[in-house]
Amino acid sequence: MSNAISNLRKFVSPEIIFGAGARKTVGNYARSFGSKKVFLVSDPGVAAAGWLEDVRAALEAEGIESVIFTQVSPNPRTDEVMQGVELYQAEQCDVIVAVGGGSPMDCAKGVGIVSANGGHILNYEGIDTIDLPIPPLIFIPTTAGTSADVSQFAIISDQNERVKISIVSKAVVPDVALIDPETTATMDNFLTACTGVDAMVHAIEAFVSTGAGPLTDMHALDAIRLINKNLPQLVANPLDSERREAVMLGSMKAGLAFSNAILGAVHAMSHSLGGYLDLPHGLCNAMLLEHVIDFNYRDAQDRYKVIAETLELETHNRSSQEIRRVLVDKVINLKQEVGLYQTLSQQGVKTTDLPQLSEKALADLCILTNPRSSNQRDLEVVYEEAL
Ligand SMILES: [Fe+2]
Repeated sequence: MSNAISNLRKFVSPEIIFGAGARKTVGNYARSFGSKKVFLVSDPGVAAAGWLEDVRAALEAEGIESVIFTQVSPNPRTDEVMQGVELYQAEQCDVIVAVGGGSPMDCAKGVGIVSANGGHILNYEGIDTIDLPIPPLIFIPTTAGTSADVSQFAIISDQNERVKISIVSKAVVPDVALIDPETTATMDNFLTACTGVDAMVHAIEAFVSTGAGPLTDMHALDAIRLINKNLPQLVANPLDSERREAVMLGSMKAGLAFSNAILGAVHAMSHSLGGYLDLPHGLCNAMLLEHVIDFNYRDAQDRYKVIAETLELETHNRSSQEIRRVLVDKVINLKQEVGLYQTLSQQGVKTTDLPQLSEKALADLCILTNPRSSNQRDLEVVYEEAL
Protein backbone atom coordinates (compact mmCIF):
# COMPACT_ATOMS: atom_id res chain seq x y z
CA MET A 1 0.00 0.00 0.00
CA SER A 2 2.94 2.34 -0.56
CA ASN A 3 0.78 4.51 -2.82
CA ALA A 4 -2.23 4.74 -0.48
CA ILE A 5 -3.79 8.16 -0.05
CA SER A 6 -3.66 7.80 3.74
CA ASN A 7 0.14 8.07 3.68
CA LEU A 8 1.31 11.60 4.44
CA ARG A 9 2.47 13.28 1.26
CA LYS A 10 4.12 16.62 0.64
CA PHE A 11 3.86 18.48 -2.67
CA VAL A 12 5.93 21.55 -3.49
CA SER A 13 5.58 23.73 -6.57
CA PRO A 14 6.49 27.24 -7.67
CA GLU A 15 3.92 29.84 -8.61
CA ILE A 16 3.40 29.01 -12.29
CA ILE A 17 2.34 31.22 -15.18
CA PHE A 18 1.75 28.97 -18.21
CA GLY A 19 1.04 30.09 -21.76
CA ALA A 20 2.28 32.02 -24.77
CA GLY A 21 3.79 35.33 -23.64
CA ALA A 22 4.30 34.26 -19.99
CA ARG A 23 7.93 35.40 -20.18
CA LYS A 24 6.82 39.00 -20.58
CA THR A 25 5.63 39.14 -16.97
CA VAL A 26 9.21 38.79 -15.69
CA GLY A 27 9.52 42.52 -14.97
CA ASN A 28 6.36 42.55 -12.84
CA TYR A 29 7.59 39.64 -10.78
CA ALA A 30 11.10 41.04 -10.28
CA ARG A 31 9.54 44.33 -9.20
CA SER A 32 7.22 42.56 -6.76
CA PHE A 33 10.30 41.03 -5.13
CA GLY A 34 11.64 44.59 -4.70
CA SER A 35 14.54 43.94 -7.07
CA LYS A 36 16.96 46.71 -7.99
CA LYS A 37 19.48 44.54 -9.84
CA VAL A 38 18.73 41.12 -11.31
CA PHE A 39 21.37 38.43 -11.86
CA LEU A 40 20.35 37.12 -15.29
CA VAL A 41 21.68 33.64 -16.07
CA SER A 42 21.57 32.13 -19.55
CA ASP A 43 23.89 30.44 -22.07
CA PRO A 44 25.40 31.42 -25.43
CA GLY A 45 22.87 29.41 -27.48
CA VAL A 46 19.86 30.99 -25.78
CA ALA A 47 21.45 34.43 -26.12
CA ALA A 48 21.98 33.83 -29.86
CA ALA A 49 18.31 32.77 -30.19
CA GLY A 50 17.31 36.20 -28.84
CA TRP A 51 15.55 35.12 -25.62
CA LEU A 52 18.13 36.66 -23.29
CA GLU A 53 17.73 40.12 -24.84
CA ASP A 54 13.95 39.69 -24.81
CA VAL A 55 13.98 39.08 -21.05
CA ARG A 56 16.57 41.78 -20.35
CA ALA A 57 14.41 44.31 -22.20
CA ALA A 58 11.31 43.24 -20.21
CA LEU A 59 13.23 43.88 -16.98
CA GLU A 60 14.51 47.23 -18.25
CA ALA A 61 10.95 48.27 -19.11
CA GLU A 62 10.21 47.99 -15.38
CA GLY A 63 13.32 50.03 -14.56
CA ILE A 64 15.28 47.01 -13.31
CA GLU A 65 18.96 46.72 -14.13
CA SER A 66 20.42 43.29 -14.92
CA VAL A 67 23.86 41.70 -14.77
CA ILE A 68 24.23 39.02 -17.44
CA PHE A 69 26.04 35.72 -16.81
CA THR A 70 26.25 33.28 -19.73
CA GLN A 71 29.41 31.26 -18.99
CA VAL A 72 27.42 28.06 -18.52
CA SER A 73 28.30 24.72 -20.20
CA PRO A 74 25.68 22.23 -21.43
CA ASN A 75 26.32 20.26 -18.21
CA PRO A 76 26.86 23.15 -15.72
CA ARG A 77 30.11 22.87 -13.77
CA THR A 78 31.06 23.62 -10.19
CA ASP A 79 33.59 26.28 -11.22
CA GLU A 80 30.96 28.06 -13.33
CA VAL A 81 28.65 28.18 -10.31
CA MET A 82 31.44 29.65 -8.18
CA GLN A 83 32.28 32.27 -10.86
CA GLY A 84 28.60 33.20 -10.91
CA VAL A 85 28.57 33.61 -7.12
CA GLU A 86 31.54 35.97 -7.33
CA LEU A 87 29.80 38.15 -9.91
CA TYR A 88 26.44 38.04 -8.07
CA GLN A 89 28.07 39.27 -4.89
CA ALA A 90 30.39 41.84 -6.54
CA GLU A 91 27.42 43.39 -8.34
CA GLN A 92 25.16 43.22 -5.26
CA CYS A 93 22.30 41.57 -7.13
CA ASP A 94 19.11 40.73 -5.24
CA VAL A 95 17.00 38.42 -7.49
CA ILE A 96 18.05 35.63 -9.87
CA VAL A 97 16.35 35.18 -13.25
CA ALA A 98 17.33 32.21 -15.42
CA VAL A 99 16.36 31.90 -19.07
CA GLY A 100 17.33 28.71 -20.88
CA GLY A 101 17.33 24.95 -20.55
CA GLY A 102 18.32 22.88 -17.53
CA SER A 103 21.92 24.06 -17.57
CA PRO A 104 21.45 27.79 -16.88
CA MET A 105 18.62 26.98 -14.48
CA ASP A 106 20.68 24.50 -12.44
CA CYS A 107 23.66 26.88 -12.47
CA ALA A 108 21.35 29.68 -11.24
CA LYS A 109 20.18 27.47 -8.37
CA GLY A 110 23.81 26.82 -7.46
CA VAL A 111 24.57 30.55 -7.45
CA GLY A 112 21.57 31.14 -5.20
CA ILE A 113 22.61 28.41 -2.75
CA VAL A 114 26.21 29.57 -2.32
CA SER A 115 25.50 33.32 -2.36
CA ALA A 116 23.16 32.88 0.62
CA ASN A 117 24.89 30.06 2.49
CA GLY A 118 28.60 30.53 1.73
CA GLY A 119 31.22 27.81 1.18
CA HIS A 120 31.49 25.77 -2.03
CA ILE A 121 28.67 24.28 -4.12
CA LEU A 122 30.05 20.76 -3.50
CA ASN A 123 29.21 21.22 0.22
CA TYR A 124 25.50 21.05 -0.61
CA GLU A 125 25.32 17.65 -2.31
CA GLY A 126 22.49 15.50 -0.93
CA ILE A 127 19.01 15.97 0.48
CA ASP A 128 18.02 19.03 2.56
CA THR A 129 21.53 20.36 3.12
CA ILE A 130 20.63 24.05 2.65
CA ASP A 131 20.04 26.03 5.86
CA LEU A 132 19.40 29.61 4.72
CA PRO A 133 16.76 30.73 2.20
CA ILE A 134 18.22 31.63 -1.18
CA PRO A 135 17.44 34.78 -3.22
CA PRO A 136 14.14 34.84 -5.16
CA LEU A 137 14.34 32.69 -8.31
CA ILE A 138 12.31 33.49 -11.44
CA PHE A 139 12.85 30.85 -14.15
CA ILE A 140 11.91 30.94 -17.82
CA PRO A 141 12.52 27.55 -19.48
CA THR A 142 13.35 27.50 -23.22
CA THR A 143 13.25 23.71 -23.56
CA ALA A 144 10.34 21.37 -22.83
CA GLY A 145 11.99 18.71 -20.75
CA THR A 146 14.33 19.32 -17.87
CA SER A 147 11.75 20.98 -15.59
CA ALA A 148 14.39 22.62 -13.40
CA ASP A 149 11.89 25.50 -13.40
CA VAL A 150 9.47 23.54 -11.21
CA SER A 151 11.69 21.01 -9.44
CA GLN A 152 13.52 20.78 -6.14
CA PHE A 153 16.59 19.32 -7.93
CA ALA A 154 19.84 20.95 -9.01
CA ILE A 155 22.37 18.82 -10.90
CA ILE A 156 25.94 20.12 -11.14
CA SER A 157 28.94 18.52 -12.87
CA ASP A 158 32.07 17.97 -10.80
CA GLN A 159 34.78 17.97 -13.46
CA ASN A 160 37.51 16.75 -11.11
CA GLU A 161 35.62 13.58 -10.20
CA ARG A 162 33.89 13.34 -13.62
CA VAL A 163 30.56 12.91 -11.85
CA LYS A 164 27.34 14.86 -11.45
CA ILE A 165 26.19 15.79 -7.97
CA SER A 166 22.49 16.00 -7.05
CA ILE A 167 21.16 18.64 -4.70
CA VAL A 168 17.58 18.05 -3.55
CA SER A 169 15.92 20.69 -1.41
CA LYS A 170 12.71 22.66 -1.15
CA ALA A 171 15.03 25.70 -1.06
CA VAL A 172 15.76 25.36 -4.81
CA VAL A 173 12.14 25.20 -5.96
CA PRO A 174 11.91 28.48 -7.91
CA ASP A 175 9.53 31.14 -6.57
CA VAL A 176 8.07 31.70 -10.02
CA ALA A 177 8.13 29.61 -13.22
CA LEU A 178 7.15 31.54 -16.36
CA ILE A 179 6.47 28.64 -18.74
CA ASP A 180 6.10 30.08 -22.20
CA PRO A 181 5.79 27.56 -25.08
CA GLU A 182 6.88 30.27 -27.57
CA THR A 183 10.41 30.08 -26.20
CA THR A 184 10.80 26.45 -27.30
CA ALA A 185 10.33 27.38 -30.99
CA THR A 186 14.10 27.93 -31.34
CA MET A 187 14.99 24.34 -30.35
CA ASP A 188 16.32 22.15 -33.17
CA ASN A 189 14.74 18.73 -33.72
CA PHE A 190 17.48 16.84 -31.85
CA LEU A 191 17.02 19.03 -28.76
CA THR A 192 13.22 18.74 -29.02
CA ALA A 193 13.57 14.95 -29.16
CA CYS A 194 16.11 14.69 -26.31
CA THR A 195 14.25 17.02 -23.95
CA GLY A 196 10.88 15.47 -24.82
CA VAL A 197 12.14 11.97 -24.06
CA ASP A 198 13.71 13.30 -20.84
CA ALA A 199 10.25 14.55 -19.84
CA MET A 200 8.72 11.15 -20.68
CA VAL A 201 11.37 9.49 -18.49
CA HIS A 202 10.56 11.90 -15.65
CA ALA A 203 6.91 10.90 -15.82
CA ILE A 204 7.58 7.14 -16.03
CA GLU A 205 10.18 7.15 -13.25
CA ALA A 206 7.95 9.30 -11.00
CA PHE A 207 5.01 6.92 -11.53
CA VAL A 208 6.96 3.77 -10.61
CA SER A 209 9.00 5.51 -7.88
CA THR A 210 8.69 4.20 -4.33
CA GLY A 211 7.93 7.86 -3.47
CA ALA A 212 4.90 8.02 -5.79
CA GLY A 213 1.46 8.90 -4.45
CA PRO A 214 -1.88 10.32 -5.56
CA LEU A 215 -0.57 13.90 -5.67
CA THR A 216 2.12 12.97 -8.19
CA ASP A 217 0.41 10.11 -10.07
CA MET A 218 -2.16 12.37 -11.73
CA HIS A 219 0.56 14.61 -13.14
CA ALA A 220 2.77 11.69 -14.19
CA LEU A 221 -0.01 9.96 -16.15
CA ASP A 222 -1.17 13.19 -17.77
CA ALA A 223 2.42 13.87 -18.81
CA ILE A 224 2.82 10.39 -20.33
CA ARG A 225 -0.39 10.85 -22.30
CA LEU A 226 0.46 14.38 -23.52
CA ILE A 227 4.03 13.58 -24.56
CA ASN A 228 3.09 10.32 -26.28
CA LYS A 229 0.30 11.98 -28.27
CA ASN A 230 2.23 15.09 -29.28
CA LEU A 231 6.03 14.67 -29.30
CA PRO A 232 6.43 12.69 -32.55
CA GLN A 233 4.06 15.05 -34.36
CA LEU A 234 5.94 18.09 -33.04
CA VAL A 235 9.27 16.69 -34.27
CA ALA A 236 7.65 16.01 -37.67
CA ASN A 237 6.18 19.53 -37.79
CA PRO A 238 8.12 21.97 -35.57
CA LEU A 239 5.81 24.86 -36.57
CA ASP A 240 2.76 23.24 -34.92
CA SER A 241 2.23 25.61 -31.98
CA GLU A 242 -0.61 23.54 -30.48
CA ARG A 243 1.64 20.46 -30.23
CA ARG A 244 4.42 22.67 -28.85
CA GLU A 245 2.13 23.86 -26.07
CA ALA A 246 0.93 20.31 -25.34
CA VAL A 247 4.51 19.00 -25.05
CA MET A 248 5.43 21.92 -22.79
CA LEU A 249 2.41 21.18 -20.58
CA GLY A 250 3.41 17.50 -20.48
CA SER A 251 6.94 18.46 -19.52
CA MET A 252 5.65 20.73 -16.73
CA LYS A 253 3.43 17.99 -15.33
CA ALA A 254 6.27 15.47 -15.51
CA GLY A 255 8.39 17.98 -13.60
CA LEU A 256 5.80 18.42 -10.85
CA ALA A 257 5.56 14.62 -10.58
CA PHE A 258 9.26 13.86 -10.35
CA SER A 259 10.12 16.84 -8.17
CA ASN A 260 7.86 15.36 -5.51
CA ALA A 261 8.05 11.59 -6.15
CA ILE A 262 11.78 11.64 -7.10
CA LEU A 263 13.19 9.49 -9.90
CA GLY A 264 14.85 6.11 -10.41
CA ALA A 265 17.59 4.07 -12.07
CA VAL A 266 17.41 5.77 -15.48
CA HIS A 267 18.40 9.08 -13.92
CA ALA A 268 20.92 7.56 -11.50
CA MET A 269 22.66 5.82 -14.42
CA SER A 270 22.25 8.81 -16.74
CA HIS A 271 23.79 11.22 -14.22
CA SER A 272 26.76 8.88 -13.91
CA LEU A 273 27.09 8.63 -17.69
CA GLY A 274 26.66 12.37 -18.31
CA GLY A 275 29.25 13.23 -15.68
CA TYR A 276 31.73 10.72 -17.09
CA LEU A 277 31.42 11.53 -20.80
CA ASP A 278 29.76 15.00 -20.81
CA LEU A 279 26.88 13.77 -23.01
CA PRO A 280 23.44 15.47 -23.35
CA HIS A 281 21.21 14.48 -20.42
CA GLY A 282 18.15 13.60 -22.50
CA LEU A 283 20.22 11.42 -24.82
CA CYS A 284 21.70 9.51 -21.86
CA ASN A 285 18.18 8.83 -20.56
CA ALA A 286 16.95 7.78 -23.98
CA MET A 287 19.75 5.20 -24.37
CA LEU A 288 18.89 3.63 -21.01
CA LEU A 289 15.10 3.81 -20.73
CA GLU A 290 13.90 0.50 -22.20
CA HIS A 291 16.69 -1.43 -20.48
CA VAL A 292 15.73 -0.03 -17.07
CA ILE A 293 12.03 -0.78 -17.70
CA ASP A 294 13.01 -4.35 -18.55
CA PHE A 295 15.06 -4.59 -15.35
CA ASN A 296 12.49 -2.94 -13.05
CA TYR A 297 9.39 -4.60 -14.49
CA ARG A 298 9.45 -7.59 -12.13
CA ASP A 299 9.00 -5.36 -9.07
CA ALA A 300 6.38 -2.87 -10.38
CA GLN A 301 4.19 -4.87 -12.77
CA ASP A 302 0.90 -3.21 -11.80
CA ARG A 303 2.34 0.28 -12.24
CA TYR A 304 3.89 -0.53 -15.62
CA LYS A 305 0.53 -1.95 -16.73
CA VAL A 306 -1.10 1.44 -16.00
CA ILE A 307 1.69 3.14 -17.97
CA ALA A 308 1.08 0.74 -20.88
CA GLU A 309 -2.65 1.58 -20.81
CA THR A 310 -1.87 5.32 -20.70
CA LEU A 311 0.29 4.80 -23.79
CA GLU A 312 -2.84 3.26 -25.39
CA LEU A 313 -1.38 -0.25 -25.56
CA GLU A 314 -3.74 -3.20 -25.48
CA THR A 315 -3.41 -4.95 -22.10
CA HIS A 316 -6.58 -7.07 -21.98
CA ASN A 317 -5.99 -10.74 -22.71
CA ARG A 318 -2.26 -10.21 -22.40
CA SER A 319 -0.05 -11.85 -19.81
CA SER A 320 2.18 -9.70 -17.65
CA GLN A 321 5.23 -10.78 -19.66
CA GLU A 322 3.47 -9.84 -22.91
CA ILE A 323 2.71 -6.39 -21.49
CA ARG A 324 6.38 -6.07 -20.57
CA ARG A 325 7.37 -6.82 -24.16
CA VAL A 326 4.86 -4.45 -25.82
CA LEU A 327 5.80 -1.67 -23.38
CA VAL A 328 9.51 -2.02 -24.12
CA ASP A 329 8.75 -2.10 -27.88
CA LYS A 330 6.55 0.99 -27.57
CA VAL A 331 9.30 2.98 -25.83
CA ILE A 332 11.81 1.98 -28.51
CA ASN A 333 9.34 2.97 -31.25
CA LEU A 334 8.65 6.35 -29.65
CA LYS A 335 12.38 7.09 -29.51
CA GLN A 336 12.85 6.04 -33.12
CA GLU A 337 9.88 8.16 -34.22
CA VAL A 338 11.70 11.24 -32.88
CA GLY A 339 15.01 10.16 -34.42
CA LEU A 340 16.84 8.70 -31.41
CA TYR A 341 18.64 5.47 -32.32
CA GLN A 342 21.90 5.95 -30.40
CA THR A 343 23.53 3.31 -28.21
CA LEU A 344 26.13 3.65 -25.48
CA SER A 345 28.93 2.07 -27.53
CA GLN A 346 28.29 4.52 -30.38
CA GLN A 347 28.83 7.32 -27.86
CA GLY A 348 32.21 5.91 -26.82
CA VAL A 349 31.27 3.83 -23.76
CA LYS A 350 33.41 0.70 -23.38
CA THR A 351 32.88 -2.46 -21.34
CA THR A 352 35.84 -1.43 -19.18
CA ASP A 353 33.98 1.80 -18.19
CA LEU A 354 31.01 -0.07 -16.75
CA PRO A 355 32.28 -0.89 -13.22
CA GLN A 356 33.07 2.78 -12.57
CA LEU A 357 29.81 4.00 -14.16
CA SER A 358 27.83 1.51 -12.04
CA GLU A 359 29.63 2.46 -8.85
CA LYS A 360 28.78 6.14 -9.37
CA ALA A 361 25.18 5.37 -10.39
CA LEU A 362 24.71 3.37 -7.19
CA ALA A 363 25.84 6.42 -5.18
CA ASP A 364 23.33 8.72 -6.93
CA LEU A 365 20.31 9.85 -4.89
CA CYS A 366 17.85 8.83 -7.63
CA ILE A 367 18.60 5.14 -7.09
CA LEU A 368 16.98 5.34 -3.64
CA THR A 369 13.43 5.50 -5.04
CA ASN A 370 13.88 2.99 -7.87
CA PRO A 371 11.17 0.32 -7.55
CA ARG A 372 13.65 -2.57 -7.76
CA SER A 373 16.49 -2.44 -5.29
CA SER A 374 19.77 -2.93 -7.09
CA ASN A 375 23.43 -3.58 -6.46
CA GLN A 376 26.43 -2.55 -8.51
CA ARG A 377 26.41 -5.74 -10.56
CA ASP A 378 22.72 -5.23 -11.46
CA LEU A 379 23.45 -1.77 -12.83
CA GLU A 380 26.46 -3.08 -14.71
CA VAL A 381 24.24 -5.63 -16.43
CA VAL A 382 21.74 -2.91 -17.43
CA TYR A 383 24.58 -0.77 -18.85
CA GLU A 384 25.82 -3.87 -20.74
CA GLU A 385 22.37 -4.36 -22.27
CA ALA A 386 22.44 -0.72 -23.43
CA LEU A 387 25.90 -0.95 -25.04
FE1 LIG B 1 15.94 14.42 -16.47
